[in-house]
Amino acid sequence: MQSKIQFILNRELIEVNINPATVLLDYVRSLRLTGTKEGCKEGDCGACTVLAGELSEGKVNYKSVNSCLIPVQNISGKHIVTIEGLNSDEKNLNPIQQAFLDEGASQCGFCTPGFIVSLTGYLLNEGKLKNNNVLDSLDGNICRCTGHSSIIRAAERIRSKFKNEIISSKGDAYEYLTENKIIPGYFLSVKKMLEGISNENMNSGLQNSVKKYFIGGGTDLFVQRPEEMLFTDAQFLDPEKNLKGIKADNGYCQIGCSVTVTDLLESETINNIFPQIYNFAELFGSTPIRNSATVGGNINNASPIGDMTAFFLALNSNVILSDGSIKREIPLNEFYTSYKKTARKPEEYMEGINFKIPDGNYFFNFEKVSKRTYLDIASVNSAILINVENEVITDVNISAGGVAATPLFLFKTCQFLKGKILNAGNIKEAISISQNEISPISDARGSADYKKLLLIRLLYAHFVTLFPEIINAEQTV
Ligand SMILES: Cc1cc2nc3c(=O)[nH]c(=O)nc-3n(C[C@H](O)[C@H](O)[C@H](O)COP(=O)(O)OP(=O)(O)OC[C@H]3O[C@@H](n4cnc5c(N)ncnc54)[C@H](O)[C@@H]3O)c2cc1C
Ligand code: FES
Ligand code: FES
Repeated sequence: MQSKIQFILNRELIEVNINPATVLLDYVRSLRLTGTKEGCKEGDCGACTVLAGELSEGKVNYKSVNSCLIPVQNISGKHIVTIEGLNSDEKNLNPIQQAFLDEGASQCGFCTPGFIVSLTGYLLNEGKLKNNNVLDSLDGNICRCTGHSSIIRAAERIRSKFKNEIISSKGDAYEYLTENKIIPGYFLSVKKMLEGISNENMNSGLQNSVKKYFIGGGTDLFVQRPEEMLFTDAQFLDPEKNLKGIKADNGYCQIGCSVTVTDLLESETINNIFPQIYNFAELFGSTPIRNSATVGGNINNASPIGDMTAFFLALNSNVILSDGSIKREIPLNEFYTSYKKTARKPEEYMEGINFKIPDGNYFFNFEKVSKRTYLDIASVNSAILINVENEVITDVNISAGGVAATPLFLFKTCQFLKGKILNAGNIKEAISISQNEISPISDARGSADYKKLLLIRLLYAHFVTLFPEIINAEQTV
């Protein structure tokens, strides 16, 4: 299978006939751009980090991504920046590279390009993103030999030197960044170059046929079966721009399947509904993973511990399925039929998801426990949406992941709580009911007993977080 793909790689317009499931890391290294390193090839280490710039509302927006997991089809029409594309025009070190040298932040150097690229991504987004934090921008990068203290010092040096200047720079921050040699001058002509790329070959077009795989961001598929993806019959979804929107309409929120975790985080609509979205989303993967991981991929990989799945289950969402012409909608809490199996027919893809925008006196919370706090998938996760009027629980939805073969909606627990007074006694009784709704197994993420206990703690955590005046941590033991 070959596909014609056009994109900009650093300074150059590339047009290539290539297997579209080739991962970007392999492609750039085949061009001898060997600054981008292959470490884990599983999205964990960040040695392969590159920037992907995409035209949106007349601007080029850059995001850091793991090139080891991105199929080249998904970079069609974008600007890809490897470490070579950040070298200054004058051939001396740029300020980020210089900060690494000054702070002794590089020893063997294997991780260094990834860190520099991530920090550049941070500066390119300064002033644009609500929660742009220098250390968070490095959450997908690991150094095995220098130790992170010197890297943190270098990052802090960069932040304190440039952050305020960028924010206060009138006009285009990219101009400020080029003037200060953080990015080379050619960045200023990238917008025009991207506008010149024909859309013709960018979209592969959703066809009405059975496909073995639909490919979203690829952060599952290219970890689990990278070789198979080169030879399998697959349909790419990311380039389909019309699957990307988030909109509020008639009291419902509609989210396209290609929306990423970062898109959710940046969406005004989502932030209005869930002001705490950043606290929940930062528990999902790392910055580069969040920049690629889609809602469609999370729901359709049917993992019992998908975080977005738990999130959307508690919102009583509906899944919108389409075979290219006929659409149907089913509740997410009926979507999972058995372990890793869904009600989606082979010829269907998930077009998106919708949920009724919560109204009245509602509260939402998401909790997750994993072996590591960050960059790890859950042992157990849970979300709750609860409405309380005059101390009475008028409505409640609770999800639980990692405690059964499929993601669960805790029907009986919710049924018990509905119409009850919100007090410690009812909360305790509901949590004991939840234990009869689950059937966890022992695996690498913990024993069955441990997961049962975890769910108890996470359910208490919802109530302690949302209603500290009703129940406090001491009352939960
Ligand atoms: C380092 C790392 C950290 C991670 N951390 C987390 C985490 O904290 N929490 C978490 O929940 N997950 C995590 N993941 C898993 C993964 O990132 C998510 O599940 C992600 O949402 C998958 O989306 P994707 O677009 O990349 O999926 P893909 O890999 O593109 O697809 C996944 C599956 O869904 C199918 N699919 C995709 N889109 C559709 C569609 N629209 N219709 C039908 N089928 C479709 C594909 O065929 C495939 O079977 C992590 C992964 C990595 C590599
Ligand atoms: S090689 Fe480790 S994240 Fe890509
Ligand atoms: S400098 Fe060696 S891995 Fe970071």
